[in-house]
Amino acid sequence: MKISVIGGTGPQGLGIAKRLAIAGEDVIVGSRKEEKALKIVNETIDELKDYDISLEGMANEDAAKNGDILIMTVPLVAQAPTLKTIKEFVGDKVFIDATVPLETAIGGSPKRCIGICEGSAAERTQALLKGTGAKVVCAFCNISNSLLLNIPNDIDCDCLIAGDYQDAKDISMELINKIPGVKCIDAGPLERSRMIEQITPLLIALNIKYKSQFGGLRITGIDSK
Ligand SMILES: NC(=O)c1ccc[n+]([C@@H]2O[C@H](COP(=O)([O-])OP(=O)(O)OC[C@H]3O[C@@H](n4cnc5c(N)ncnc54)[C@H](OP(=O)(O)O)[C@@H]3O)[C@@H](O)[C@H]2O)c1
Repeated sequence: MKISVIGGTGPQGLGIAKRLAIAGEDVIVGSRKEEKALKIVNETIDELKDYDISLEGMANEDAAKNGDILIMTVPLVAQAPTLKTIKEFVGDKVFIDATVPLETAIGGSPKRCIGICEGSAAERTQALLKGTGAKVVCAFCNISNSLLLNIPNDIDCDCLIAGDYQDAKDISMELINKIPGVKCIDAGPLERSRMIEQITPLLIALNIKYKSQFGGLRITGIDSK
C-alpha cells in the first residue's frame, strides 16, 4: 500500500509524509517538478536517518498513478490546476484533501476563509473529480505543519474528518491514527468539511493571539475508536 502526497513538498504535505513514513507507511512525495520532489526526499531521508523509512519523490502525475491512497496538500489557488493534471490517475482511490480556503488565496487574512460555491474546498475537490469515482475525505485541516514537523514529539490533537464514503473514511482513520498522539474523529458527511475547514482560521488566530505555533483541537467526551 503506497501513500502519495500530492504537493508534498510544502510544509503541510512534507509533515504528513514524514509522520506517515515514520509510522511505517510507503510514502511518495509529489511535486509539479520531479527534481524538486527528489531533492526534498533526499534531504528528508538524510534528516530522518535514525528511522527506517520508505520515501520516494515523483512528479505529481506519477505520484497519483503509483499511490493507493492520495493526499492533496496544495494551496487553494493550486487546487483546480493540480486536480486537472492528476485527474486521469485518480480512479476510485481514497482521496484525502487538506485544502483550507483561507482568504490569503485572494491576498486577505489567514484568520478568515473565503466562500466556496460548492460549500467547501473538499466538496470542490469532489466536484472537480466528478466522473473518476474518487472517494474524497476532508482531513488534516486542523493539524498545523508546526505540529506535524515537530518530530519526534507526539501530536496532541484530534483530526476531524468528513466524507460521503464510509469505507474511505475507515481507511483514512486507520492511516491517520498511526501518527502518535493523533485521534481521528468522523464528523459525518462531506458537507461537514464546511465547518472543519472554518476551524483552521480560528486556530491560526488563536496561535497568533497567544504567540504559539502548536495550538490544536481536542474534542472531549467522545470515544471515537
Ligand atoms: N500549513 C499548515 O499548517 C496547514 C494546516 C492545515 C491545512 N493546510 C492546508 O494544506 C495545504 C498545503 O499547505 P502548505 O502550507 O504546505 O502550502 P504551500 O507550501 O503553499 O504549498 C504546498 C505545495 O503546493 C505546490 N504549489 C504551491 N503553489 C502552487 C501553485 N500555484 N500551483 C500548483 N502547485 C502549487 C508546491 O509544490 P511544488 O512546487 O513542489 O509543486 C508547494 O510546495 C493548503 O491548502 C493549506 O490550507 C495547511
